[in-house]
Amino acid sequence: MATAGKVIKCRAAIAWEPNAPLVIEEIEVAPPQEGEIRIKIVASSLCHTELYHLFEAKDKQGFPTVLGHEGAGVVESVGPGVTDFKPGDKVIPLSVSQCGECRFCKCPKTNQCDRNWINKYVDFMSYPTTRFTCRGQPILQFTSTGTFSEYIVMNQISVAKIHDDAPLDRVCLLGCGVATGYGAAVNTAGVTPGSVCAVFGLGAVGLAAVMGCKNAGASRIFAVDINEQKFEKAKVFGATDFLNPKAYNKPISEVLAEMTNGGVDFSLECVGNPEVMLISGKTWKGTLLGGFKVKDSIPKLVQDYMAGKIKVDEFITHKMDLEEINDAINLMKTGQCIRCILNISK
Ligand code: ZN
Ligand code: CU
Repeated sequence: MATAGKVIKCRAAIAWEPNAPLVIEEIEVAPPQEGEIRIKIVASSLCHTELYHLFEAKDKQGFPTVLGHEGAGVVESVGPGVTDFKPGDKVIPLSVSQCGECRFCKCPKTNQCDRNWINKYVDFMSYPTTRFTCRGQPILQFTSTGTFSEYIVMNQISVAKIHDDAPLDRVCLLGCGVATGYGAAVNTAGVTPGSVCAVFGLGAVGLAAVMGCKNAGASRIFAVDINEQKFEKAKVFGATDFLNPKAYNKPISEVLAEMTNGGVDFSLECVGNPEVMLISGKTWKGTLLGGFKVKDSIPKLVQDYMAGKIKVDEFITHKMDLEEINDAINLMKTGQCIRCILNISK
């Protein structure tokens, strides 16, 4: 490609500081170095993690940055030592890695790769360092991705190669939220056939958890949310019973216990509110990207979607251009959308 080995100038939405609108700027994206891949991002969704970083950040650490970690695109060029990717490959960049060599990658029980940015680079936001600059200043890649840019550079250990026919403006959702909720049910919780499940919180992660419970063969799936407008969507993903905690004058755990002869078999907390969690001699687990070993599993999820085994389109409520990103953030912030897909490059 004509751009290989050269700096690419392109558009990106930069978060210069916390609590401020993103600004569309021209940035420079350096060529990929050893083991790295430069990707043209076609589409990206936004996820609550972005909102958390943008609005809840305590200080300016982690800024300026390009947010975005639910994207999909096409390989533009590869750096030295990259053999598994070539220009033109469709890919999903990931904020979780699978180096394949560490103790954790070699253990079938975990996906917590030792080289995940989250283990060591929480404050630095980028692994191993950013390839973005704007007006001479380095700009971080949020969670090592930064998909609100037309081009990004990623380490190959955090990139999944997907099917050539995959629609990028949909499968980008499999890069975080949908895989997280789905995997929380099928991997982390290990929902079993015939079981009774409850899913708390019906955003994208919760709806994907409902879908995971259904695909794992649960016989009854309680969908719990204080916003009853979400129940219709939960039904589409397989929920059988719907509960609004605000409609009862006792704790929802008691209501569920009465309705299920003592309690559910699996309870999935997808609100992100620790007060929802109930502890009393139960087994508790957390999940990172649904427990999926990313490079192995994300391509399979894409194929499951293409084969009609899992739903993705149903999460998409809005589509916008990169220029409208601040409107998309507002929709997300005010709970008016499940997932908004942004067209990143034309
Ligand atoms: Zn590893
Ligand atoms: Cu996310």
